[in-house]
Amino acid sequence: MKTYTLRSNAQVPALGLGTWKAAKGEVYKAIRDAIKIGYRHIDCAAVYGNEEEIGQAFADAFEAGDVKREDLWITSKLWNTQHKKENVIPALKKTLADLQLDYLDLYLIHWPIAMVPNPSMPFTAESFVSLEEIPIAETWEQMEEAHRQGLAKHIGVSNFSVKKLKDLLSYAKVKPFFNQVESHPLLQQKELLAFCKSEDIVMTAYSPLGSKDRPNIKENEPDMMSNEAVVSTAKEVGATPAQVLLAWAVNRGTTVIPKSVNPERLKQNLEAAAIDLSSAQMEIIGKLDLHHRFIDGTFWAVKDGPYTLANLWDE
Ligand code: A2P
Repeated sequence: MKTYTLRSNAQVPALGLGTWKAAKGEVYKAIRDAIKIGYRHIDCAAVYGNEEEIGQAFADAFEAGDVKREDLWITSKLWNTQHKKENVIPALKKTLADLQLDYLDLYLIHWPIAMVPNPSMPFTAESFVSLEEIPIAETWEQMEEAHRQGLAKHIGVSNFSVKKLKDLLSYAKVKPFFNQVESHPLLQQKELLAFCKSEDIVMTAYSPLGSKDRPNIKENEPDMMSNEAVVSTAKEVGATPAQVLLAWAVNRGTTVIPKSVNPERLKQNLEAAAIDLSSAQMEIIGKLDLHHRFIDGTFWAVKDGPYTLANLWDE
């Protein structure tokens, strides 16, 4: 497995397993299977609602001798309702308890969005708290405290624009190690990737396959796996279209976290990290950018609320 060496000298495997949408009742087996076939990087989040089951899988994998804790890279994320300073460390401790771990390799601020503790569904303006009221700086200070206490060996953010990263870098005592964002050939985020690289921040690509199993999928969404350039590249290298999407992500220097709960696809995805694409193949896929977001953030942009798509993505 290709790895990236971080500022801390730690190494992160380029391809990890995503667990968003991995349902209770199936995620345990997916984690056990994944570890057995060689996955060493697992991406979790409190809001996915499955950390307890994942924690049991970790505990059983350690117990069975499938892997040692120090050989796994485990990420989790702080949910929007926990941004206030007194909530950050308790939220992280809850995640650690659920995952049956005493430290995370990486803890991320999940979104640059703050919410009240128990927002009603569907969200209204009252569900949200502005970043003037709970600034990212307040949350970040506690992320740094979690890092200082060794609860999270690395800290970072998710869904941050260049503008928000620059703002964070202006006061951070511990620079973020990662920015996890949606990225794939239709949303390449070239400027963001270049900025992250220049600041020694690793960009992690989520929804690399288009997250077709998510709720509220729109009609007529583009399908990357049947894209002509992707399909022809797949034929050239003797791989599947999904593997080409993942290989492309690794070849351009991002970490990538495809989700699967299917043993065959888990294996296929893991193997994709070893596929080298030629510069000509990278270039052809590089031309597919449409700046198309599958996860467009509209769920945060409610009427009269503090968040809009413009102030979320800064574009
Ligand atoms: P499954 O879990 O049944 O394998 P993303 O990582 O972009 O969120 O996409 C996840 C979706 O893609 C899930 O529906 C997952 O289904 C599916 N998927 C994962 N790996 C592959 C693959 N190699 N080929 C086709 N579909 C895949």
